[in-house]
Amino acid sequence: MKLQLLSLLPLASIASASWSKNINYRSPSEHHPALGISIHRVVKRNDPQSTYDTAALNFTHGVASGDPYPNSVILWTRVAPQSDNSKSNVTVTGYAPLFDHDNEKYVHVSKSPICVEYKVAKDKDLTSTVDSGKVYTSSDVDFTVKVEAKNLKPYTTYYYQFNVCNSSNKSPLGRTKTTPNAEDDITKVSLAVYSCSNYPFGFFNAYGNVARKDSVDYVIHLGDYIYEYANGEYGWGQSIGRVPQPDRQIYTLYDYRKRLATYRTDLDLVENHQQFPWIPVWDDHEVGDNTYRDGMAELNNTEDSFIKDGVGVSVDQRKMNAVRAYFEWMPIRQVDMDDNLRIWRSFSIGKLVDLTMLDTRNYDRSITDLYWNTDYIHEISNDAGRSLMGSRQENWFYRQLSESYERGATWRVIGSQIVFSRVNQSAATGNANSENYDAWGGYKANKNRTLNHLYSNNINNNIFLAGDSHASWVSDLVWLGEKDYNKSSGEGSIGVEFAGSAVTSPCPYGANITLAAANAASTWLQNANDELQWQDLYYRGYFELHFTHEKVDANFFGMPTIVSRNGWEIPLANFTVLAGANKLQRPVGGGVVESGSLKYGKVVQNNITLDTNNGTWFVSHADLEVL
Ligand SMILES: *[C@@H]1O[C@H](CO)[C@@H](O)[C@H](O)[C@H]1NC(C)=O
Ligand SMILES: *[C@@H]1O[C@H](CO)[C@@H](O)[C@H](O)[C@H]1NC(C)=O
Ligand SMILES: *[C@@H]1O[C@H](CO)[C@@H](O)[C@H](O)[C@H]1NC(C)=O
Ligand SMILES: *[C@@H]1O[C@H](CO)[C@@H](O)[C@H](O)[C@H]1NC(C)=O
Ligand SMILES: *[C@@H]1O[C@H](CO)[C@@H](O)[C@H](O)[C@H]1NC(C)=O
Ligand SMILES: *[C@@H]1O[C@H](CO)[C@@H](O)[C@H](O)[C@H]1NC(C)=O
Ligand SMILES: *[C@@H]1O[C@H](CO)[C@@H](O)[C@H](O)[C@H]1NC(C)=O
Ligand SMILES: *[C@@H]1O[C@H](CO)[C@@H](O)[C@H](O)[C@H]1NC(C)=O
Ligand SMILES: *[C@@H]1O[C@H](CO)[C@@H](O)[C@H](O)[C@H]1NC(C)=O
Ligand SMILES: *[C@@H]1O[C@H](CO)[C@@H](O)[C@H](O)[C@H]1NC(C)=O
Ligand SMILES: *[C@@H]1O[C@H](CO)[C@@H](O)[C@H](O)[C@H]1NC(C)=O
Repeated sequence: MKLQLLSLLPLASIASASWSKNINYRSPSEHHPALGISIHRVVKRNDPQSTYDTAALNFTHGVASGDPYPNSVILWTRVAPQSDNSKSNVTVTGYAPLFDHDNEKYVHVSKSPICVEYKVAKDKDLTSTVDSGKVYTSSDVDFTVKVEAKNLKPYTTYYYQFNVCNSSNKSPLGRTKTTPNAEDDITKVSLAVYSCSNYPFGFFNAYGNVARKDSVDYVIHLGDYIYEYANGEYGWGQSIGRVPQPDRQIYTLYDYRKRLATYRTDLDLVENHQQFPWIPVWDDHEVGDNTYRDGMAELNNTEDSFIKDGVGVSVDQRKMNAVRAYFEWMPIRQVDMDDNLRIWRSFSIGKLVDLTMLDTRNYDRSITDLYWNTDYIHEISNDAGRSLMGSRQENWFYRQLSESYERGATWRVIGSQIVFSRVNQSAATGNANSENYDAWGGYKANKNRTLNHLYSNNINNNIFLAGDSHASWVSDLVWLGEKDYNKSSGEGSIGVEFAGSAVTSPCPYGANITLAAANAASTWLQNANDELQWQDLYYRGYFELHFTHEKVDANFFGMPTIVSRNGWEIPLANFTVLAGANKLQRPVGGGVVESGSLKYGKVVQNNITLDTNNGTWFVSHADLEVL
């Protein structure tokens, strides 16, 4: 043993590149280092004499950055000798077995480490470098590179680039931005908020548009960044040339890597990652449909499902595979984890905004609606013991809200995956008990504890965000049945919820629903729910939030078509929340929106037409009044 160790020393001294600086070798959990990759074993296996032809290496998926702090930010790229993803498995014993179970043989893994340099500078030419370094990557981490750029200044734009060591083979140039110091009194900040990007359902134009407009500082993703299904199960990828790989439901580490890699070929997504630092969290589909602490809808946590489905991957192992690939591919930090697979974390953006990103799915939530148990979940949805987050995360969440209020941050922004406000959809679904029990509606005790914490501590200026539903819901934040609420004036509300539509995932009331049918359903929903001030089902899209100390402006955008790559978008509706008001400014939406249904307001629809002769969209101004 000692001799072998000694023989490694020359490698360490010749190459000053670092293995451990590539964060992806580490465990996603700092308290479970064994979940990481044994760098010692990787170093032992790699042969420093055997090198790649540097020209044959390719930066296959652009660059990305994320989880900005005042002095540092995470940078990401992938540089590989192959376009395919690595089949190396990572197991809990902490090393990479080289056996490919698909092909019943030991697979070729790289014998050579790939050395990558990175530079961070204030200018696009990277002349005034403020940080740089050299790191290794290898097949063990799917050739991904994730480093923490340090020594940065708060609230500053930086450019960065990777290159293969000693070579002019370079990645694209990325741009990123640090956050202000928590105590800095910045006057404005803008966010774009996304969820539910489903590759076989359409092109990710929504991501590209924000890059083209250059309209925000940071990008928030509330999850469902990928979907686990086979194309035929959910999507029509063949018809638009977007069949996600591998073309089957995904279970293994290779599967999740390959799926993420497919999504990251979308040019608009690549461009968005290249221009903005992201703060993402997962929803359920990064792992599987309707996940909870111990299971998911389409994979039972039983011996039968393990053996008889022929999947051969247990629920826990599937989750681990998904989580490992997610951390490899997403530009996020591995926050300090005390237990479990923690992704929930928070960010201070000066004294203006405190952003709390929750995990209402995978970390520690009680059993959810798995389709075959809906009546049971309905029955227990008001049980006091149920939690969406688990007690550790719940307590952290309430503490975050209090601390943010006490330190005097103007706005508290809560990134939840699922919709917080009650949604009675009984007429639309024909089921009198129709709430979404997979959302906060299935966890009323957790919801009440949250509202109770806000009301009893007078915590104000709360802006809840949600994705997951593939539709837009704008509501006053209320505690129905407990606190009086006036839907006309908004009195009694303690904040606002902005829940956004999907980048491409289909309308929950029918993938090919007509505008008229969608707006009729929106009208029903709007009328059945007092606090629901605007609802739209028709448009795929996203929203932007523009914060100052005086107000928040929310702008919702809809994509007229996503079956082709195009830059067309329609401003759907605009909302304002004044500081201290804790409700939507009246008249809500200025009294007029483009689509859906607006309480006490009207929908004025600009007829949008594609001229097939010249391929451009134009507004034909029918100004059709729907309501
Ligand atoms: C590098 O990767 C890109 C993106 O996957 C691909 O389009 C290009 O053909 C690759 N280049 C080489 C030389 O393999
Ligand atoms: C390792 O990967 C293979 C397929 O590449 C898969 O069949 C096997 O279940 C994986 N093992 C684990 C522990 O994930
Ligand atoms: C890169 O070049 C430097 C000197 O120019 C040399 O010391 C170093 O070993 C080279 N590194 C690699 C990985 O080839
Ligand atoms: C899981 O178990 C339930 C209850 O037995 C059953 O209805 C459902 O079909 C099973 N799902 C799968 C994917 O095996
Ligand atoms: C939550 O609050 C509502 C309104 O007061 C009440 O009807 C419901 O029983 C409460 N549920 C729990 C579990 O606290
Ligand atoms: C609700 O607010 C409206 C003003 O928007 C007011 O006219 C009405 O009286 C209020 N209703 C109650 C019950 O206070
Ligand atoms: C819905 O539209 C898509 C894309 O245009 C098409 O591929 C699909 O067949 C349509 N589905 C139905 C049920 O009409
Ligand atoms: C939902 O709304 C319908 C129509 O307004 C009503 O009959 C039903 O009781 C409501 N259900 C719930 C759970 O509030
Ligand atoms: C929303 O605001 C934008 C400008 O910020 C404007 O172009 C658009 O017409 C507004 N949309 C609606 C529906 O009011
Ligand atoms: C929209 O415009 C097109 C072409 O100008 C027209 O055929 C269509 O009837 C209009 N639709 C509505 C709803 O006004
Ligand atoms: C395309 O045609 C429409 C009218 O059909 C016109 O309004 C628009 O300006 C044209 N665009 C271009 C780029 O020629």
